Amino acid sequence: MKKKLCIIGASGDIGQRMYNTLVNTFPEYEIIGTCFQKKSIYLENLDVTNYNMLNRYLLNHMPYIIIWLSGSKDVKNCQINEEFAYSINTTPIKFLIEILKNNNIKSKLIYISTDYVFDGLKGSYLTSDNCNPLTNYGKSKLKAEMFLIESDITFLIMRTSAVLINGKGFLGWLKSEFEKNNKFSLFENTYFSPIPIEILNKAVEIYILKNDWKKNIIHISGPRLTRFDFGKYFANFMGYDKTLLIKDKANFTNSTFQRDISLVPDESIRFLSINSWENLFKYL
Ligand SMILES: NC(=O)c1ccc[n+]([C@@H]2O[C@H](COP(=O)([O-])OP(=O)(O)OC[C@H]3O[C@@H](n4cnc5c(N)ncnc54)[C@H](OP(=O)(O)O)[C@@H]3O)[C@@H](O)[C@H]2O)c1
Repeated sequence: MKKKLCIIGASGDIGQRMYNTLVNTFPEYEIIGTCFQKKSIYLENLDVTNYNMLNRYLLNHMPYIIIWLSGSKDVKNCQINEEFAYSINTTPIKFLIEILKNNNIKSKLIYISTDYVFDGLKGSYLTSDNCNPLTNYGKSKLKAEMFLIESDITFLIMRTSAVLINGKGFLGWLKSEFEKNNKFSLFENTYFSPIPIEILNKAVEIYILKNDWKKNIIHISGPRLTRFDFGKYFANFMGYDKTLLIKDKANFTNSTFQRDISLVPDESIRFLSINSWENLFKYL
């Protein structure tokens, strides 16, 4: 019988692509995944906020590897509703640890975390830098990381920056703005280190193959640039009209905007990283 590799949150933006990639890359594993509101015939319905349901799911499958992608990345909603942020991003990880421990299940966990665990005052963050999240989203993800660090389970926290997926998130929004052919603004004072989904998937593959997860936290990210520059390079690459872009400045008081939450990729996967915008867009 094949060992099971389970993606919790396989119906999400990252999860869908990671599921399809891993199914092709690892025929030696049975790749299974979960969904919540989006229904899929390939995925099993699971509410990770429901302890009994998660318990049943894990006992039923006894996964060898779990990749955890479920949660809410909605920074604004998490900011308005702190309780929601913790209930969806933190408590399920506490449940997971308890269930694995109580049932002596030895699953290895890859937990996808975020650049929002940093305060954005310094930028180019290493894993050795202090975390100091300013948003409820960042706080709830860091708290989940802390539960893992204090636990006995085998885990790898993979912190990543904005993940570039065709037609989704920032990239999808940018494309639709250019296609409206109206002027629009992007911040020239907020830095990030976006990464194509293909590179994140590759990093996950490398760590699935690696037996040694001694390092428990790694960063995987792309080149550091401002949102405005990203827009400019994207326009160049796609042949859109750059003059539609207006430079704007984010106001950091009373907002969830971050000055510079760029990450430095871990040396173990630095060979995957992208150091120029041309290479960043060639995946799209
Ligand atoms: N996307 C990024 O740029 C990025 C960057 C850094 C870190 N991350 C982290 O990576 C994670 C995944 O990102 P994503 O872009 O794939 O997010 P996403 O598209 O919002 O997907 C979230 C996943 O969680 C599932 N989910 C939501 N509530 C659930 C519940 N109560 N029980 C079980 N599953 C539930 C969703 O299921 P349904 O869709 O079926 O409802 C979906 O599969 C995020 O939580 C975020 O912290 C993402």
